[in-house]
Amino acid sequence: MSKQVLILPGDYIGPEIMAEAVRVLEKVNQGFQLGLELEYGLLGGAALDVHGVPLPEETLARAKEVDAILLGAVGGPKWDGVERHLRPEKGLLGIRSELQLFGNLRPAILYPQLADASSLKPEIVAGLDILIVRELTGGIYFGEPRGIRTLENGEREGFNTYVYNESEIRRIAHLAFSLARKRDGRLCSVDKSNVLEATILWREVVEEVAKDYPDVELSHLYVDNAAMQLVMQPKQFDVMVTGNMFGDILSDAAAMLTGSIGMLPSASLDQAGRGMYEPCHGSAPDIAGQGKANPLATILSVAMMLRYTLASAEAADAIEQAVSAVLDQGLRTPDIHSDGQQLVSTVEMGDAVVAALNC
Ligand code: IPM
Ligand code: MG
Repeated sequence: MSKQVLILPGDYIGPEIMAEAVRVLEKVNQGFQLGLELEYGLLGGAALDVHGVPLPEETLARAKEVDAILLGAVGGPKWDGVERHLRPEKGLLGIRSELQLFGNLRPAILYPQLADASSLKPEIVAGLDILIVRELTGGIYFGEPRGIRTLENGEREGFNTYVYNESEIRRIAHLAFSLARKRDGRLCSVDKSNVLEATILWREVVEEVAKDYPDVELSHLYVDNAAMQLVMQPKQFDVMVTGNMFGDILSDAAAMLTGSIGMLPSASLDQAGRGMYEPCHGSAPDIAGQGKANPLATILSVAMMLRYTLASAEAADAIEQAVSAVLDQGLRTPDIHSDGQQLVSTVEMGDAVVAALNC
């Protein structure tokens, strides 16, 4: 039976990087006879322009039906002026929430070929392989009440609610422990339990869940210390688990340890392992339309999609090997370029990966 993949290119560099990822996906689809059917939808600013909303009904309906979703990136200055509830980002948050994609996996892996692209010394980052597991459908991103109100004295006040219930913490903790078990067996939970009640409970529940995973070594860090440790001694970490907002911040920091956020894929999974796959980076309006965007994060997101949701490990391996091969060839988009290497455009990078694919 054929499986369906919904492609949501999104905004600014989104369609550029997606075009390359789709060529890679189409080649492995043929080469490994995966029987995937690709269809396209609108999300974010692109949807706002056509339908007046960032998450149209038809996109959501298809998203709920297909086997997997591949997303480019959404948002950008074109929609800066729109009302808050219509912002392109709301489309992304809406789809995450509606599909209950609570488990966000953000690997930060340093390709040995890119050791000199990192802002840290090679010996600090060589061999880096961290997995950040970010809770994606709760916390302060979704907590109610929220808003901007005017007080009696006429002053405006912005407010949000940081809330996590036990079951939300438990399910993300189980996911993180089970992933740690398949890796190096170490999990660091990140909170701010010296200040925030929501994360006092977070720590308690993570401790409870730990009893089911005696083979995994659990540690805890406050988020400020975690940020410091990440840039000081990043290789101490195997898997990190944290809430929505801390995960957003720490995953950007972890990404840069690897040289470029343009290299990092992500998976957002529901309880059944169905998921949406997207690069960790945003829509990069500053470089859109110039052929400068690095398509590798989206191409590697295709590999994650094949591995985690579409059960095609062979095709996923082939893509990851092809990416490694083009890096070996010295091909670099501007974000990872340094002296002595060949500067290539988005499309040329896509060409090279397609050519290096062994299938
Ligand atoms: C991310 C992004 C999003 C987030 C934005 C675009 C809403 O930064 O996926 O990390 O904050 O989750
Ligand atoms: Mg982010």
